[in-house]
Amino acid sequence: MCGIVGYMGKSNAKEILLNGLKELEYRGYDSAGIAILQQDTLHTFKAVGKLENLESKIKDFEVSSGFCIGIGHTRWATHGKPTEANAHPHTAEFSNVVHNGIIENYQEIKEELIILGHHFLSQTDTEVIVHLFEENLKKLDPQEAFYATINRIKGAYAILLVSKIAPNKIFYAKNGSPLIIAKGSGGIYFASSDSPLVGLASQVVYLEDGDMGVMDIEGFDLLKNIQNFSVNKTLAQKDGFRYFMEKEIYEQHSVLLETIMGRVSENGVIFDEIDQSFFLGIRSITLCACGTSYHAGMVGKYLLERLAKIRVNVVIASEFRYGGFVSQEDELFISISQSGETADTLEALKLAKEYNQKSLAICNVDNSSIVRLSDCAILTRVGLEKGVASTKAFASQVLVLWMLAVYMGRTYGHLDEREAKLQSSDMLSAIRATKVESKFHERIKRLSKRYLHGHGFFFIGRDVFYPLALEGALKLKEISYLHAEGYPSGEMKHGPIALADSNLFTIALLSEHLLYDKMQSNIAELSARDATICVIGSKECESADDMIIIPQAKSYMEEFFSMMLGLQLLSLEVAIRLGNDVDMPRNLAKSVTVE
Ligand code: G6P
Repeated sequence: MCGIVGYMGKSNAKEILLNGLKELEYRGYDSAGIAILQQDTLHTFKAVGKLENLESKIKDFEVSSGFCIGIGHTRWATHGKPTEANAHPHTAEFSNVVHNGIIENYQEIKEELIILGHHFLSQTDTEVIVHLFEENLKKLDPQEAFYATINRIKGAYAILLVSKIAPNKIFYAKNGSPLIIAKGSGGIYFASSDSPLVGLASQVVYLEDGDMGVMDIEGFDLLKNIQNFSVNKTLAQKDGFRYFMEKEIYEQHSVLLETIMGRVSENGVIFDEIDQSFFLGIRSITLCACGTSYHAGMVGKYLLERLAKIRVNVVIASEFRYGGFVSQEDELFISISQSGETADTLEALKLAKEYNQKSLAICNVDNSSIVRLSDCAILTRVGLEKGVASTKAFASQVLVLWMLAVYMGRTYGHLDEREAKLQSSDMLSAIRATKVESKFHERIKRLSKRYLHGHGFFFIGRDVFYPLALEGALKLKEISYLHAEGYPSGEMKHGPIALADSNLFTIALLSEHLLYDKMQSNIAELSARDATICVIGSKECESADDMIIIPQAKSYMEEFFSMMLGLQLLSLEVAIRLGNDVDMPRNLAKSVTVE
């Protein structure tokens, strides 16, 4: 997804912008560019593909000492192909703009500007911003011209604009896409997320929708809602692992302890951040999310219905937005999002709010749009997740939903104290189960070579292991590009089993605690059709070709977390053997801030 950086000050703007863009690489991008305005000259550089391409284009450009300003962008194509012309910054006569989001009414504006003599070089929606600004300058001063431009465009945007007409200023606007302004000893910084600011900024302002302004070097202290910024740089490093995804898999057992800190004790579950009265009178829940977060929501449904006896509807945000919305009284709307910026989830939340539903966010990013818009939030506290394929965020979302189920079960009187205590102790065991033992990883690494060349994968499970099967299949697809589908085991005979043969790999999640015999029969059905089967479970299974043995567990949720680890490591090792870029899989983005 697109990323934005900006800088004004006396440090080396070229280095600051390029380093900032590198910190945004994990979001996924197909082209990049920067513009630097120094001594009344605007220098613009763009390149398709990796940032190295941009770096080699700029290598001979020297930034002169003294004050200068600059903006930069990584683009993930929405309007127009990933070409150099379509890469940002976009230029008019004497101004440059970078933009995240979508300008919905760009066509009509473009047509008007063409009649007025403007020439467009790209197929993007963004280019209209810079032309409209220069058109408005014919009648207005720079600030008024920028505000008139922003007031004319419709859609979602985070925008930075620089112009020779105002050589010491950066024009900015935010609506629906995140934008941060920060200050550090080296000057003023802009970014679309925290990571480029780590190590540079000491204070930040997370802009609100509708914010726009013109920043100069003195301007930061005049902003509202200035906060201290103390994100730790080491958290954003790979710590010696081959990939961020691997590091994130390994750190699950420690970050999940953060997730439960102050919330889970031997007496049960509490949430200090939410008033208990918030949950009173709720009769049903909608869980809304996209991608991996949606799978966590599906697990949450089983847990909430089982432990809190409350009816739960799980919806994919992009479907929910345009479906027939039946707003139930006493319904709680829970959005689940790692980033807190996913456009579909955010819009679904806005819809629920229009219907006056209570809203709760389960999110990893404080100050994100979804957190800010919700009545209250439970943060998952797993730190920056850089791997595009989500791992630790998924684990923490499931854990929070489990905690919520226990909490609501107690609130509604469906769980007694003894059961709640048991659940708390199961949570601790489940977290322990996510510690990666080297023997376990080695076994999966060795096994992975047998699973590279089939004609596809089935991942099967029942109950909570069904959404885990979906998530296992999604992980494998995302980073290995192999075809994989998740199914509830009982559904195999209703169609999918027709595909079974020895080149079809099945990963079966065999729980000892839940529906063991049923699952055994489903595995036997596939084995009888000669499918190649790898069982993940704690007991040997006769019908299996391969086994990934997990430790014996006290509860089915402990098994869930052990199996999750096995699935994550299997995807990782298959993808590495296939030579793929695990952290930045093709066609995918970490944070999808457009529809
Ligand atoms: C993208 C990511 C997925 C993620 C989904 C939802 O598709 O690649 O990993 O699950 O968005 O993101 P969210 O930040 O809302 O959890």
